[in-house]
Amino acid sequence: MLVLGIETSCDETACAVVRDGRDLLSNAVSSQADLHALYGGVYPELACRRHLDLIIPMIDQALLEAEVSSEEIDLISVTQGPGLIGALLLGMHAAKALSLAWNRPFIGVNHLEAHIYSALMSCESPKFPALAVVLSGGHTLMVSMERPGSYKMIGQTVDDAIGEAFDKVAVLLGLSYPGGAQIELLAQKGDPRLYSFKAGLVKNRPWDFSFSGLKTHVLYRLKGQNHNKSAVNQLSSDQYPHIAAAFQEAALQEVTGKIIAAAEQFGAKMILLGGGVTQNRRLRQLVSRENVYWPLPGLECDNGAMVAALGYALFLDRGCRGDSFDLEPSAKLNFF
Ligand code: KG4
Ligand code: ZN
Repeated sequence: MLVLGIETSCDETACAVVRDGRDLLSNAVSSQADLHALYGGVYPELACRRHLDLIIPMIDQALLEAEVSSEEIDLISVTQGPGLIGALLLGMHAAKALSLAWNRPFIGVNHLEAHIYSALMSCESPKFPALAVVLSGGHTLMVSMERPGSYKMIGQTVDDAIGEAFDKVAVLLGLSYPGGAQIELLAQKGDPRLYSFKAGLVKNRPWDFSFSGLKTHVLYRLKGQNHNKSAVNQLSSDQYPHIAAAFQEAALQEVTGKIIAAAEQFGAKMILLGGGVTQNRRLRQLVSRENVYWPLPGLECDNGAMVAALGYALFLDRGCRGDSFDLEPSAKLNFF
């Protein structure tokens, strides 16, 4: 079965063709990072306009790269939420239009559950319950996946997502948006022991995360206590690699510690990790153990392949029924 996956929840216009939920035939991603870099974060209205320009060319590219024609597509899977509502609408309307024009079913999926599927795709024989973790620019959460389609929330961030913390610290260090990968590079030249940072604790919620205080510690260390982000940096730039390394270590130790402890506590038989931050090599080193699955290369950040893989699984689970045209996108869609 050939599934076209469409992802437009944030600042990537992405389309992919996946066979039987596993074989990646194409993965066309157009990132809008350059556009949003000017604003230091995603500018929702601009994101929607860019999706409008790119959606048809990206669908064409996905079909072309996969060397399949539109008649061969059996199902269209699209991100229903969560995300920017205008951006989601664009993808949803494209999926509905294709469904009508090609006379094929379409299905709406949850973006966060799709990130979990990006890791599940690389696992030959999944074992449940699994601990599923999403570490991205917009989300940080851990769920217990009892089986496909059945999840229990364990913990999530109460403020910034981990990728967002990387991006905000990157801006403080004069790096461009999104700065996660640049922080990692800078950190390789630094000594994490020269500065001491710590992620926040959430009262009475041991599995939740808080990264906003960590980012503020970095800000005060760079600019002086109680200064705001527009103040001039007081530390000289030769300290930046050490700051980056100490921040990265604090953020990653926080998530790694909780991942390992949660896997044990909830009896996880495997760990699935998805989201852009899983590109970080130090994270992979820290979580390195048996039965840990990462996204296939190119599927860490937002992409259409994970949307296609999840859509395929849901479609089969529902006895090959797609969604109705009444389905609306939802900015705050939950899956647990
Ligand atoms: O999964 P994604 O596209 O975001 C959302 O769906 O929200 O991931 C993007 C995030 C950004 O915050 C980016 O800075 C971060 O992933 N990121 C990294 C690295 N590469 C990307 N963070 C830490 N280390 C990296 N190497
Ligand atoms: Zn995402």
